[in-house]
Amino acid sequence: MVTADFVIRHARQVLTCAGPAPRRGAAQRVASSISDGVVASRAGRIVFTGSETEFQGSVQATADAVIVDAGGGTVVPGFVDPHTHVIYAGDRREELRRRLAGATYAEIAAEGGGILSTVRATREATEEELIESARPRLAEMLRCGTTTAEAKSGYGLETAAELKMLRAIRHLAGSQPIDLVATFLGAHEIPREYRDRRQAYLDLLTGEMIPAVAGESLAAWCDVFCETGVYTPGESRAILEAGARAGLRPRIHADELAASGGSDVAADVGARSADHLLFVQPTSADRMAEAGVVATLLPAAAFYLKLGRFAPARMLIERGVAVALATDLNPGGGFTPSMPFVITLACFGMGMTLEEALVGATINAAYSLGRDGDLGSLEPGKLMDAVIVAGEAVDLIRVGAPAITRVVKNGRVVV
Ligand code: NIG
Ligand code: FE
Repeated sequence: MVTADFVIRHARQVLTCAGPAPRRGAAQRVASSISDGVVASRAGRIVFTGSETEFQGSVQATADAVIVDAGGGTVVPGFVDPHTHVIYAGDRREELRRRLAGATYAEIAAEGGGILSTVRATREATEEELIESARPRLAEMLRCGTTTAEAKSGYGLETAAELKMLRAIRHLAGSQPIDLVATFLGAHEIPREYRDRRQAYLDLLTGEMIPAVAGESLAAWCDVFCETGVYTPGESRAILEAGARAGLRPRIHADELAASGGSDVAADVGARSADHLLFVQPTSADRMAEAGVVATLLPAAAFYLKLGRFAPARMLIERGVAVALATDLNPGGGFTPSMPFVITLACFGMGMTLEEALVGATINAAYSLGRDGDLGSLEPGKLMDAVIVAGEAVDLIRVGAPAITRVVKNGRVVV
């Protein structure tokens, strides 16, 4: 008998997503279903996942245990959102209206909009303002079932402002329910004042920012926006290698707007994840599979940027690349906090099955952040992070309907 202080009972189905990570190829669609299921935890860690019959013989609930009745709904792991720009100041909804009238992302950026407009606002904001403006966004993400998220810097592009963003992330990580994993993205753009001397900015990134971030242990990951007109593959490699030497593990924005070499850089430096990948070529996918790079796909960004295509998820899965899903929440083109909406786009825009998308939003996303030992599936030893869906898991794709009835984080009902 094990004891439990928190139990979810009467689920028509528990999709545990249990098993080894990352899940690639045919394993991407193994979401492991238990009918009439129960999940139980003690002190925030799962101690039991199984059927009602097994539960009765093997788990003893403590006298003050919290028992949650899933009401015949479905339980899935809490969603892990492995790519967000949730910390920022300012407002770019005007860009959205312009895109609706036909302007492209590149045109808007060339006119001083885009990332650099958020940089101006973020530099002016205080750490406190960044924290307070992010809270309602994180609360929305939580309501949509996200229990862990990555959060990037990258709207400072100067040492003090990058550190300010990362300190805001650290503060938020300890003061609201979502677990946050911080990524240093000083290489999100070339700041305006360095446009004529980019090498000086590269030197600042590698010589000052990365050591400062690592010195304060403010980030786990280092990221680069590798794209035509932003960072070249050679520059990206140098930045990620400098990050790795300082203990920041590499991940990369790759092949979003063109086949610009980012996925090959990911394979070369052994990045854990290459993200976006709308234009990734089959030969690069093979190199990613061989190097164990996860493809983190962000179909909501492609949707809101009106890119007219999605990443080739089927090609990636067929070539043995593990696929994770993320929102890309950001002020310019990441207008949804919702992993269920991302799952929906993955199914209807990228041809993934519901199980593949669910695995992509949970265990593979946890692996993308190096947190699969603790997160991403409902199995003993992991954190009790769960989402209760009214009805079946497929009801998650009913965009706009309140399909999620409860969100559990560390064995506590938080929504
Ligand atoms: O992931 N591609 C670069 N970065 C973001 C966009 C950020 C922004 O527009 O502010 C992305 O899509
Ligand atoms: Fe991004």
